[in-house]
Amino acid sequence: MAAASGLRQALRPAKRRVFFALRPDPRVRASLAQAALHMHGATQGRCVRDDNIHLTLAFVGAVGQQDLARLLEPPSGVFTSAFVLTLDHCGCWAEKGIGWAAASHTPDGLRVLAENLAGWLRDAGFELDNRPFRPHVTLVRNAQCVPPKGPMAPVEWRIAEFALIESLPMPGGVSYLPLRSWPLR
Ligand code: 2AM
Repeated sequence: MAAASGLRQALRPAKRRVFFALRPDPRVRASLAQAALHMHGATQGRCVRDDNIHLTLAFVGAVGQQDLARLLEPPSGVFTSAFVLTLDHCGCWAEKGIGWAAASHTPDGLRVLAENLAGWLRDAGFELDNRPFRPHVTLVRNAQCVPPKGPMAPVEWRIAEFALIESLPMPGGVSYLPLRSWPLR
């Protein structure tokens, strides 16, 4: 066990690709996995692995050890209260080949949490993408985006924590490893 973790450590790249995200609880994950299967049927897209399902709040990218240490200590000003996100429609971005689920109403808690994270990260010198925040849960990749956007059976997701996640390339796909998570009250 110790040898395996030592080997993992030794093989770890100097820079690690990380992002802040929301991870669903098992009930929400199961509903979204079901929606992914449905989307796969409609688009032939490759389903995101159940345990990889997430909603990105802020994508940071490749960082070294010192920056990673800073990312593991978000300031208190970042935190919002817990909130409920209702995912109620799905769609497909043809240019990215992504089939997704999203909320027709973005709760203030989600918008503010993402803004707080982006503000803190920019102030701390991290370079973030300037694209507007488009909250979505990617369900399938390499999708043939023919079906129109449409409603889906609503999935109510109570968000009571967020996480810093590492994206690890693996044979046969990527794996998302939560490095630390923080509760929202
Ligand atoms: P996607 O699912 O729409 O591709 C891990 O790669 C997560 O970070 C995914 O949710 C991915 O979004 C998102 N992501 C990857 N690169 C990004 C970037 N440059 N800007 C914003 N989000 C990104």
